[in-house]
Amino acid sequence: MAFPKESVEEVRARTDIAALIGQTVALKRNGSALVGLCPFHNEKSPSFNVIPHKGFFHCFGCGTSGDAITFVMKTRGLTFVEAVKDLAQAAGVTLPERDLTPEEKARATARQDLYTVCESACALFVKTLLVLPEGKPGRDYLEKRGVTTETAQKYRIGFAPDGWDRLDRHLRTQRIPPQLGVQAGLLKRRETRGPGDEGVYDVFRNRLIFPILDDRDRPIAFGGRLLPDPPGAPPGKDPGPKYLNSPESPIYKKGEVLYGLSWARAQAQRKGRLILVEGYFDAVSLWQAGFGEAVATCGTALTERHVERIQSHTRKVYALFDSDAAGLRAAQKSLPLLQAAQISAFRLDLGASKDPDEYIQRNGAAAFETLLGAGEDLIQMVVRRIVEEEGRDSAAKDRVLNRAVEFLRDLPSVGVRETATLYVAGLLNLRADEVRARAFPSGGRSIESAESARTPAPERWVPPKELSHLLWALIRRPQDVWPLLANIDPDWICEREDVLAAMHRLGTGAPFADVVGDLDTTAPDLARTLRAIAAIEGTIKEEDAIITATDVILRMERTAVEAKIREQSAMIAACGKSGDKSSYRDNLIALSGLNARRQEINAALSRLPRPSRPLRDT
Ligand code: UTP
Ligand code: MN
Repeated sequence: MAFPKESVEEVRARTDIAALIGQTVALKRNGSALVGLCPFHNEKSPSFNVIPHKGFFHCFGCGTSGDAITFVMKTRGLTFVEAVKDLAQAAGVTLPERDLTPEEKARATARQDLYTVCESACALFVKTLLVLPEGKPGRDYLEKRGVTTETAQKYRIGFAPDGWDRLDRHLRTQRIPPQLGVQAGLLKRRETRGPGDEGVYDVFRNRLIFPILDDRDRPIAFGGRLLPDPPGAPPGKDPGPKYLNSPESPIYKKGEVLYGLSWARAQAQRKGRLILVEGYFDAVSLWQAGFGEAVATCGTALTERHVERIQSHTRKVYALFDSDAAGLRAAQKSLPLLQAAQISAFRLDLGASKDPDEYIQRNGAAAFETLLGAGEDLIQMVVRRIVEEEGRDSAAKDRVLNRAVEFLRDLPSVGVRETATLYVAGLLNLRADEVRARAFPSGGRSIESAESARTPAPERWVPPKELSHLLWALIRRPQDVWPLLANIDPDWICEREDVLAAMHRLGTGAPFADVVGDLDTTAPDLARTLRAIAAIEGTIKEEDAIITATDVILRMERTAVEAKIREQSAMIAACGKSGDKSSYRDNLIALSGLNARRQEINAALSRLPRPSRPLRDT
């Protein structure tokens, strides 16, 4: 840590956490806490709590918690040191500068130098595009692509004119050594012609420039699109690839960057969804059409780091996957990553358009919104496509099963695997049991333990928010809550048996300390979670415990019913295709029963009184 402990403590003590968070989240008082809509996940009713006298925040919905420093780190994407510095300045605390080691100093300076050279280059590119005479080809091209000046300014789009030393000269006048331009991938070395010749040339020539910005809106890399040759131009030498991208550097890691995220995150949070596209032009064009929640992966496959960054802003992603074999592979690779982050994903089908930019130019924004509404669940899409590729005859069935089984085994969540299993069964006219037996021959358990042997145990298990509420009520008032759980399907509550077992013990009178103490050895992640839930402040009256538990149970049942509705619909679709009339009718009857139950649940939920001390976000 770069600061003495006392200084950090002073910064915490002198920061008014309610005022700080109040700048970004609208907070209302609720007892000793302040509550509002969580900035770290998408929600409609507030479960984000700030406890000013204890100096921390906690979201009961997504489990994010921390103090003022963490809040600044998370919302503004700063490091610990940067966040402490900012808060210290705001609170008027003087931080003693600890001497950095020579390596630390060198590294910090090197990074700073890279920011400087990228910022300076970005400014030149922007100025060239917007005002300089040599920017005309860029302006013309942008106009042809339908991008307005306002949009260009927002994204800091620029232009690098045709020529070998425009940027080189600019950096020299700014007294930035060419060496740095080389490190940032903006200049390249060439053969030197003699002493005094630095021997560098511009990498980006005759290209429209899209700067890639970090969370603090600093340019860290560039993508340059080649301008097309004017019609009738004589064939010149090879102008290089359509897009040229900066190489990685100490400030730019390709697999971590989502183009446009610094602007999209607020929109994604507000709209509860993120649109994942491939190209720079797609993100820009969507923003211009009113879809500010779009980011581009810039031609790379989705990585775990990408997903992490998305996860803190939304749990719903719309993505584009081509309708060819490569598109299917990409979808199959992305799904486990998204599932592990509890993000639901949908595929956008652009029909005849090759990308969202083209789609918007042809069909307009309203059509795109309709398209989002028609997004296909990614799991369903993968299963459907496997069947389509292999066919439906009896010989194909085996091949489909083999591929589907491989896919099923990769899915991290048991619940999701089950949904996917049902899709497979529905589409192949098999019983779910048959598919399950094939995919998980030893009942799934050995697969589970193989998984846990591969990956280190997570520090904490993150239950869905409804289950957290239920656990909270159960820990507080086991004698009132447990009887309510007696007759419900354990599958609705949780797929983890150790969780159910712990609930059973708590409900039947075992002391909390004993239950959690035992879990410390068998399931430390669960033990940690239960302690965290038990530590949540507040007491609860008997009737409120009952109302809370009833509410949660109804919601859990509704989720289960809705999953069954989806499954029945998939089977009906499959029967429709295979022409199996009698199963078609049975499935329809089952579906209408499920729909009726869903209505009953909704009615019961709306009749349920609010607990007098409402449990935040149930
Ligand atoms: P596309 O070829 O689909 O281009 O590549 P695009 O974004 O639609 O651009 P326009 O509309 O033709 O101008 C998608 C993305 O893949 C990366 C870029 O990030 C691009 O936006 N890419 C593509 C490269 O990095 N290099 C290339 O040569 C091509
Ligand atoms: Mn395009």
